[in-house]
Amino acid sequence: MKAEMTSFVTSSEEETERVAMDIAEKLQPGSVLALYGEMGAGKTAFARGVVRALCPECLPLVHSPTFAIVNEYAGKNVTVYHFDFYRIEGDDDLYSTGFYEYRDAGGILLTEWSENVPEAIPEDAVRVTIEKISMTERRILIC
Ligand SMILES: Nc1ncnc2c1ncn2[C@@H]1O[C@H](COP(=O)(O)OP(=O)(O)O)[C@@H](O)[C@H]1O
Ligand SMILES: [Mg+2]
Repeated sequence: MKAEMTSFVTSSEEETERVAMDIAEKLQPGSVLALYGEMGAGKTAFARGVVRALCPECLPLVHSPTFAIVNEYAGKNVTVYHFDFYRIEGDDDLYSTGFYEYRDAGGILLTEWSENVPEAIPEDAVRVTIEKISMTERRILIC
């Protein structure tokens, strides 16, 4: 059973990346890490931390995949798929992104704008919600 919720307050983008790096080490192949939070919350920064941990040689290329929908980062042991569902509409759209295939193939899936695809986020996903407290502070809830 998954029980506890963890929360952090970070004071910079770098700190948010470091929190993400720690979480990344615990992700199993096939994991979905669902990011929630408004524009500018730090979802892409968090995703960058995950990639930094799992595919250091992929940096500094991590940016928001809003136009591509998915960016792929092939690490030594695992491939990270970074999705942005800002523009997604419906299940057909979602299917065509490869979301389900990548998951079945054992990739690690990061999803920005998870709010837009509630049906795609599995029960056992790691949910990361980022709230703006101030210009530089963010509350990160992980459950
Ligand atoms: N504590 C923090 N954690 C993450 N980002 C921060 C923080 N403080 C300020 N920022 C800034 O907020 C912005 C977050 O952008 P981004 O990660 O692209 O957000 P999103 O993907 O949620 O739209 C960046 O400009 C970043 O420098
Ligand atoms: Mg983003």
